[in-house]
Amino acid sequence: MQIIRDQDALNEALGALREGGATIAFVPTMGALHAGHMALVAEARRRADHVVASIFVNPTQFGADEDLAVYPRREATDAAMLEQEGCEILWMPDVATMYPDGPEATVRAAAIGDTLEGASRPGHFDGVATVVARLFEQVRPDLALFGEKDYQQLAVIRQMVRDLGLEVEIVAVPTQRDVDGLALSSRNAYLSEEERRDARILPRALGEAAQAIEGGAPVSEALERARTRLAEAGFDPIDYVELRDAETLQPLEALDRPARLLAAAKLGRTRLIDNLPVAPAHQ
Ligand code: PAF
Repeated sequence: MQIIRDQDALNEALGALREGGATIAFVPTMGALHAGHMALVAEARRRADHVVASIFVNPTQFGADEDLAVYPRREATDAAMLEQEGCEILWMPDVATMYPDGPEATVRAAAIGDTLEGASRPGHFDGVATVVARLFEQVRPDLALFGEKDYQQLAVIRQMVRDLGLEVEIVAVPTQRDVDGLALSSRNAYLSEEERRDARILPRALGEAAQAIEGGAPVSEALERARTRLAEAGFDPIDYVELRDAETLQPLEALDRPARLLAAAKLGRTRLIDNLPVAPAHQ
């Protein structure tokens, strides 16, 4: 696997990979890789001739009071994991390569990014959209893979690709979970042993709410029950537990179309997010 930090070298390596019309799948990451990222790389390998991954801890998607300075950085381990999984190029630009002037021109995420995570983390999705558009320009992949764990991010990126007419196929990969159900996340590393035990209540509370709603329980009651479960387990604050249209992320009061149950809450100093599909009976 080639580790590349310079755009000219990247262009040359990509040119070699594309010879004979071969296709390239791209897995953008911020590093601190885990089995969830490896599932993206494995799916990328199944769908394209070559796999390119990137590691860039993107400052523009972190708020002033967030964890940019302490975000886990494990370059050597990450590179070894990617190589083992069959990734051929690891693109690792620095901040000056990514944003030579600042960034000056940015991408404004669609309105779909103003709600949920966007409401709790203003500007977050503008930062994500800006860096992903920039990465797509640098790598020019045929397809790019994103985890459903960051469900709203996936929706923002799909919308951006449609609105800007970008020629890249977006592929969603289901959330990878630990044996107790907790969604894999680089930020799980922040949890203490006790918090890690309590964290499993998040997927459980969502699972129970999803089941109750699919079984016909009133949505507001099921959501309230999930919030109570989280509060009892020590989550504080609970930013949201909501049922949304699976595509537009508009709020839903009844299960009359494919939906997504999404939650975000803090356990100690760690903010966790998770989501599950909720299907109406006739789907
Ligand atoms: O999901 C992530 O790791 C990041 O938000 C992404 C897509 C790599 C953009 O920085």
